[in-house]
Amino acid sequence: MKQIQAIRGMHDVLPEQIPLWQFLEARVRDTLAQYGYQEIRTPIVEMTELFKRSIGEVTDIVEKEMYTFTDRNGDSLTLRPEGTASCVRAGIQNGLLVNQVQRLWYQGPMFRHERPQKGRYRQFQQIGVEAYGMAGPDIDIEMILITQRIWRALGLRDLELQINTLGTADERHAYRERLVAYLNGHASELDEDSKRRLDGNPLRILDSKHPAMAGIIAGAPSLLDHLGEASRAHFDRLRAGLEAAGIAHVVNPRLVRGLDYYARTVFEWITDRLGAQGTVCAGGRYDGLVEQLGGRPTPAVGFAMGMERLIALLEEQAPALRDPVDVYLVMMGDAAAARGMLLAEALRDRLPGLRLLMHCGGGGFKSQFKKADKSGAKYALILGDDEIAKGVAGVKQLRLGEQDDIEFSALADYFAARMNQQG
Ligand code: HAM
Repeated sequence: MKQIQAIRGMHDVLPEQIPLWQFLEARVRDTLAQYGYQEIRTPIVEMTELFKRSIGEVTDIVEKEMYTFTDRNGDSLTLRPEGTASCVRAGIQNGLLVNQVQRLWYQGPMFRHERPQKGRYRQFQQIGVEAYGMAGPDIDIEMILITQRIWRALGLRDLELQINTLGTADERHAYRERLVAYLNGHASELDEDSKRRLDGNPLRILDSKHPAMAGIIAGAPSLLDHLGEASRAHFDRLRAGLEAAGIAHVVNPRLVRGLDYYARTVFEWITDRLGAQGTVCAGGRYDGLVEQLGGRPTPAVGFAMGMERLIALLEEQAPALRDPVDVYLVMMGDAAAARGMLLAEALRDRLPGLRLLMHCGGGGFKSQFKKADKSGAKYALILGDDEIAKGVAGVKQLRLGEQDDIEFSALADYFAARMNQQG
């Protein structure tokens, strides 16, 4: 019979990879706690309209990447392609955004029907961070400080921070007209994608990777020259803040982002170690979105990290992590098996940090010891009829071969002392 496979672009995270994921998640969670951020959990499925209205109708995500379906009520629903829209929806719906500031974060799977390749998947994990009710560049700087601290906590080096400003919606509108006029002057040289974007989303053309577009893009007018005074001041203060905090950054005037809700600050953290999919973290300010989704006008800023990409970097830079096993319980005979299970439970009660694997399924000593070795355990705890009769268990140091008999009542202290030594 034909085996059923996982859906293309969607992957299992296998047990051997889990320690690295947990390491990443724990470091991020601890760092966010240091800055006073609180977790929020929202549904994976939302009304399709939410993403159309926030990410924008004329974006790649909404035009061709969403997992959209009609449910049994006839409603159009979509598997979330990102977390910001849901976070805003939840904030408005639950009254979290009125007359108060919020610092929130979330984690979970996102879904985009992109062409799968290394670092780009159809189901992928993000940790996202969002802050509401703060208009100044100080919170933009805090966002970047958080990311920088996370890289340090993870031991990641060589990430480059790129920043840009997209101005306000009005400034962008005026700039857009200039840009379209310029691009129309080069209409015959545009590639197909850019021609298509010229009407709906001309700013995205600046992000084109098509070689034929490089010269045209280089000569295009820059949004930085079309900023109003307040936007310019915001950007200048952001840069000054980053410099004061010693955070190296590059201003990339072509950084435009693939979602429509941004205004003013945008930023990305990029590595050259992952090939084409080098952006590990991206975000920016989205002051208009809360109002656009039906809330009161509320300034907002945030970012999201691509977890698979960070894991790929960690795999390259950090030594392999594995959940260690401390003790493997080897048992011969029914009496030993019955006593052994109780002994194992008592040890787990006394020593919550002890990782103890109990052998199941019988078999001879030799095959059980083989499994003990394979588990990576440091100790085998051995119980047979002799041991039961004497009230002791054999404790063998698997790599050294030394063996002691330890009374049942002394076992917890014996392992507690050794776990402390490991430190
Ligand atoms: P985004 O740039 O679409 O922004 O995604 C953020 C990050 O998610 C990317 O930089 C990348 O690391 C990861 N990512 C995106 N698509 C994929 C994929 N197909 N496979 C693997 N990783 C991927 C957002 O999603 C915004 N919601 C970020 C934000 C939060 N802006 C403000 N607040």
